[in-house]
Amino acid sequence: MRNVSPETITDTFIAYAAEADDARLREVMFSLARHMHAFVKEVRLTHAEWHAGLAALTAAGEITNEARNEFTLFSDIFGISALVDMLHSSPGATSSSNLGPFHRPGAPELPNGGDLRKGQEGEPLVVVGQVTDTVGKPVPHALLDLWQTAGNGLYAVQDPEQPEMNYHAQLRCDAEGKFCFTTVKPLPYTLPYDGPAGVMLRALKRDAWRPSHLHLIVQAPGHVPVVSEIFPTDDEHLDRDAVFGVRADLLMEYRQGTDPTTLPAILAERDSLGADFWRVDLHLRMAPLPGSA
Ligand code: BEZ
Ligand code: FE
Repeated sequence: MRNVSPETITDTFIAYAAEADDARLREVMFSLARHMHAFVKEVRLTHAEWHAGLAALTAAGEITNEARNEFTLFSDIFGISALVDMLHSSPGATSSSNLGPFHRPGAPELPNGGDLRKGQEGEPLVVVGQVTDTVGKPVPHALLDLWQTAGNGLYAVQDPEQPEMNYHAQLRCDAEGKFCFTTVKPLPYTLPYDGPAGVMLRALKRDAWRPSHLHLIVQAPGHVPVVSEIFPTDDEHLDRDAVFGVRADLLMEYRQGTDPTTLPAILAERDSLGADFWRVDLHLRMAPLPGSA
């Protein structure tokens, strides 16, 4: 093309790349070019604005290291991570939500009924639940990967005072998919906002807060794994989660006033919880893997 114009540039991009072998690559990249060109034309992007965007990406590269990825953070605060999660949630299963940067593979095993709190600061919370399929049939021996903030609002990796893998665990459910454990109420926290993602949040007068949440991954043979998180219904940040993770089926009520003697007998801390503990009941639903019976 020897006469590229705003009207022809998108078709020119597509023509230049028409020989690419991978059909999906062509689909994704042509659509991306179409949307980006349309965006630039719609807002009549100025040179100064274009430079500012490139400077933000350069700053993201500079602040990114093994422990922090500012590009992922941009994806999160633009809602891209949440959209990819939602598009690939299985119908009828517990909704997908953010994996986030704090998942640690290889977390220590927590026996069913075990205690993550181990006398640490924070409000005691008993989590009781069951994993079923999408029609309510128990999924036996599902594996839960669990992680959350300690009672000071920090993940173990953010806090040298905490033991390694504190509040990270893998728990194997029983033959009926049932599980319980003792922990503390997770706390709300802010995303790291000392980099270019924080500049964007501040410029847009947006929150850096995430409502408190308990992260989980549920896995079981023959079922689609679920990466998700649950939120208490009364958290003050639910309506402005910085990363768009909140879904209606992930809202759970934390209640006080449970008679400890009514808790599952396998709960190790049952007799030492006192009166002021919180309780949340979870029902996690998994979809069968496509093609499995
Ligand atoms: C998290 O939930 O752990 C998280 C998600 C996105 C960005 C930062 C933290
Ligand atoms: Fe988190």
